[in-house]
Amino acid sequence: MSAGKPVFASRVVAWQKLHGRHDLPWQNTRDPYRVWLSEVMLQQTQVATVVDYFHRFLAKFPDVRALAAAPLDAVMGLWSGLGYYSRARNLHRCAIAVVEQWGGVFPARADELVRLPGIGRSTAAAIASLCFGERVAIMDANVRRVLARYLAFEGDLVQQANQNRLWELAQELLPRNSLVQTMPVYTQGMMDLGATICLPRQPRCGDCPVHGDCAALQRGSPQDFPVRSRKLKRTSRSVWLLWARDPENAVWLQRRPVPGVWAGLFCLPWFDSPEALVAQVPALYRSALEEVQPFRHVLTHMDLHLHPVRIELPADVLADGGGQWFGQDQWPQLGLPAPVRVLLQA
Ligand code: ADE
Repeated sequence: MSAGKPVFASRVVAWQKLHGRHDLPWQNTRDPYRVWLSEVMLQQTQVATVVDYFHRFLAKFPDVRALAAAPLDAVMGLWSGLGYYSRARNLHRCAIAVVEQWGGVFPARADELVRLPGIGRSTAAAIASLCFGERVAIMDANVRRVLARYLAFEGDLVQQANQNRLWELAQELLPRNSLVQTMPVYTQGMMDLGATICLPRQPRCGDCPVHGDCAALQRGSPQDFPVRSRKLKRTSRSVWLLWARDPENAVWLQRRPVPGVWAGLFCLPWFDSPEALVAQVPALYRSALEEVQPFRHVLTHMDLHLHPVRIELPADVLADGGGQWFGQDQWPQLGLPAPVRVLLQA
C-alpha cells in the first residue's frame, strides 16, 4: 500500500489553521509540562471532562517540581473522578523521574520521553511534536481512524503487526518541511480531524480537507474502517459495600489492593457476597444493617453492580482490619472512586 499523496500533510496543516481547535487550555504553549499533563489526562478521558481537572492540577502543581514534591495521596485526591488511576500513579512517578534524572527539564525527543513512566509511544510523539517539532507520528484512536480510512487500511488492528504497519505509514505521511512550525499544527490537526470530522459513525466527509483522495470514501464506505475483528469482552460483577458511619459521620475506608479494580484508592470495604459483608459486622449490630438502592457503575471491561449496605457503629467496633475512619472534611483530599464519592456526599 502506498502512503497516500504528498499533499496530505499540507492539507491537514492548512485545515487545522482555519478550522481546527485553538482555544483548549493546553494549546498555545510549548511547555512540555502542560502538554504532558493534558496528554496523560486525555489518554482515556474526553476533552470536556479534562478541562476542569487540568486547571485544578496546574493551580495546585504549577510545574513538574511541585508535582514531584507532592505526596502521592494529594495527586490521587486531585485525580479522583478521572478514572484509570494507574495514570495518576505514573504521573507522579514520571514527575519524580524528570526531576531526578533530567534536572526538572523534560527531555525533548520521543525516544527519551517514551522511557518515562506512563508515557507510551503515542504520548511521547505528541509531546515531542507539539513542543519541539519532532517529526514523529501519534496514534490514538482518533488518528487511527483518520489514517485507516484515508488509506483504506485493510489490516485488522487487533494484531500488533498491523498496528506497526499503520504506524509506519503514518510516519511517511508526516510533513517534511519547516518542522518546528508545521509539526505542532499537523499533530493537532490530526487529533482535530478525528474528533470533529472523521467521526466514528457519521463522518462529515464533505468538510474534510483530504476527502478528495480518501481511499475509504472512494469505495463508498468510510465507516467500514478501521477493521477490528475482536470485540472487547465485557464481564459483570456484583459487589457489596459496607458503608459504616460513626456517630460523628466519619466513614470507614480501606485502601484497595494493587492490582485490581480501583487499585490504591480508598473505598468502602468491598465484599463479593452479602454473607461476607454480614460476617464482618459483630453479631450485636447486624440487625442495624440497612440496604441502600443498588446501582451500576460501568468500567472499561466490566459492569460493577454495587450494593451499598449502611450501618451506624461506635468508632471502636471497626478499630482494626486494615481500614481507618475518615471524617467528612477529609473526603475531598482522598483518592476515592467516583461512585463512592457520590454515595458519601449524597
Ligand atoms: N486528545 C489527545 N490529545 C489532545 C489534544 N492535544 N487536544 C485535543 N484532544 C486531544
